[in-house]
Amino acid sequence: MKLKINTIYNIDCMKGMPFIPELNREVLAIVDPPFFSGPNKKNYYKGGNSKKYIDYSSIEKWEVPKQNYFNELLKVSANQIIWGINYFHIKYIGPGRIIWDKKNSTSSFSDAEIAFCGLENHVRIFRYLWNGFLQENLKEKEIKIHPTQKPIALYKWCLQKYARPGQLILDTHMGSGSLICACIEEGYDYIAFETDKYYYQEADKRIQEFKKRHKRELFKKSGGKIIK
Ligand SMILES: C[S@@+](CC[C@H](N)C(=O)[O-])C[C@H]1O[C@@H](n2cnc3c(N)ncnc32)[C@H](O)[C@@H]1O
Repeated sequence: MKLKINTIYNIDCMKGMPFIPELNREVLAIVDPPFFSGPNKKNYYKGGNSKKYIDYSSIEKWEVPKQNYFNELLKVSANQIIWGINYFHIKYIGPGRIIWDKKNSTSSFSDAEIAFCGLENHVRIFRYLWNGFLQENLKEKEIKIHPTQKPIALYKWCLQKYARPGQLILDTHMGSGSLICACIEEGYDYIAFETDKYYYQEADKRIQEFKKRHKRELFKKSGGKIIK
């Protein structure tokens, strides 16, 4: 299989990852694998304490990754940010952590999410409201298309703080495409995998719309390059 940069693939990441080294690029992996069953099921969020809920489509293949996934990830990437690290039973990989404080104390869901960050020996906190229909930046309100969608702003912060120019960003579990939108905005090449056909197609639409909406700024930022 020959992979192309700036492409999203509707395949299992375990099938795609072995071909990453052929791209000959330094890779920063920013990944968000499933860490428990629930969000994949239809009506899961109906159980929260909000009367309003989004009826997300169910996800059929939702496998919590094991050590073989992490071994492959560490093999193909120079560095990693791994969301949900507190849930995985894997070999110790280092002390660095990012805490995303969702500022959602009124919700029955987690107050924060935790990532391993291989580029840190410390714990860093990013605070950004994300609670049901409430969002930190209502001017640029994001439409939610995926049950575990993360804000583009969180990924932009990760890229601004930890990515280096020229790196290729690897997203093994793409979901809604938030990280890809952030890569496009910050000018990073990317490659992504997503097994679910429905969410792959929805993310693809979202990414195309994002590019259209930000066409002018992207053109200016890239010094006159047309973003395809
Ligand atoms: C936790 S969600 C990612 C959410 C994403 N960070 C976002 O902001 O939208 C995990 C995603 O991985 C997909 N997935 C599950 N197993 C996979 C695999 N082996 N390879 C690729 N994608 C997979 C699921 O369909 C789901 O959309």
